[in-house]
Amino acid sequence: MDMKKTIALLVAAACLCALLAACGAKPATETGTTSESATEAAPAAPEFKTVGEAVAYAGDGNYQSSTYEKAYVYVFEKDGEYLRVIAELTPEQYEEFSALDFLADDYAEKESAFLAELPVTKCESLNGQMLSEEETAALVGKTGEELLNGGWTTGSGYDLATMDFYMEYSPFEYVVTFEKAEQLENSDDFDEEAAIKPLKVTSVKFFGLGNSATDVAEYMPEETIDYLVLVNKQNKLPDDWEETVVLEESTNRWGETYQVEAKALAAFLELQKDLLDNDGIVIELDSTYRSVKRQQEIWDEFEAEKGLEYAQQYVAVPGYSEHHTGLAIDICIEKDGVRIDDNDDMIAEKEIFSKIHAKLADHGFILRYLEGKDDVTGYAYEPWHFRYVDSPEIAHEITDAGLTLEEYLGADAEAAE
Ligand code: DAL
Ligand code: ZN
Repeated sequence: MDMKKTIALLVAAACLCALLAACGAKPATETGTTSESATEAAPAAPEFKTVGEAVAYAGDGNYQSSTYEKAYVYVFEKDGEYLRVIAELTPEQYEEFSALDFLADDYAEKESAFLAELPVTKCESLNGQMLSEEETAALVGKTGEELLNGGWTTGSGYDLATMDFYMEYSPFEYVVTFEKAEQLENSDDFDEEAAIKPLKVTSVKFFGLGNSATDVAEYMPEETIDYLVLVNKQNKLPDDWEETVVLEESTNRWGETYQVEAKALAAFLELQKDLLDNDGIVIELDSTYRSVKRQQEIWDEFEAEKGLEYAQQYVAVPGYSEHHTGLAIDICIEKDGVRIDDNDDMIAEKEIFSKIHAKLADHGFILRYLEGKDDVTGYAYEPWHFRYVDSPEIAHEITDAGLTLEEYLGADAEAAE
């Protein structure tokens, strides 16, 4: 009746002999030592020819599996040994496996059949990554903050009555007990990290596989940002943006250092060179990535110097500035050895700016606040504010059609409200 079990049994039976041979059985047999001393020595990781063999060997124990585009990763525990089996996937295998419908009645059968044929690329024991008794003992007395700074993450939950927190030191999970803190109360917005940071560890006990056990850096998808993210008067910077964006530093000719998203900076430097080499125009970084705090300072300066109305036309409310993304670059120019960075002075340099604008799309940039589109973008014309959209093709699609980013993304109706 239970197809999965039946198949597992069949696979197990079919693989048993091959498996024993492939594993080289147990180290005790290989070395001729007694089984007691074999327990002390690190057991050799069994070698499985297919993932199906590993699944059969694991039986009903603890396991985790993850499918990444380039690999299927299966991690399990058997008799105190934690093993990670990796099967690299070809694009065809990934497509075949991803196409299986996990809601279908025959999913388990199809999954087993796929795994039974899937060759193992690597099989490794994770036991060596467990913290030793000395290492766990040395954690007592440290603060939660020291743990978090030392590679620990908060894990699957906590018990405030006992001050037990499940924390991961990848790939394993530990029960970390902290000193009692009377002030801690369970509530919907309980912030586990903030709560444990000042507290001292009183004990650390091994628990088992952590949630990250299948995370193998080389197969994990690279976290990437959305280069078409819309941040404007209606759309705030996405919450997780700052954790993902990669900023790089660059210093302009006057020794001022700026941070810009890595790809946007590389593209800017090419644009800068293109303009200098081919048009004799000097452009420089003038304002790039801004923290919310920095945006507030800019808002305050503009409001104080030019008034509220001007600030609303030229400066975003903190949290709603495209400059928070790292993808926006305000330039200034140098003309006849003189830096021009005042808004009105730059607007007056029509000829130079039209030559600059003509090159933006080739380097993946768009002019973000177009002349006459205040009602769509929410801001006055800013010939100096460029936005990186990653691909020259998309930049051309937007620019050549005379569109704003709002219009290109179909968000113009919302912006005009
Ligand atoms: N100048 C643009 C609108 C900003 O402050 O983000
Ligand atoms: Zn700007």
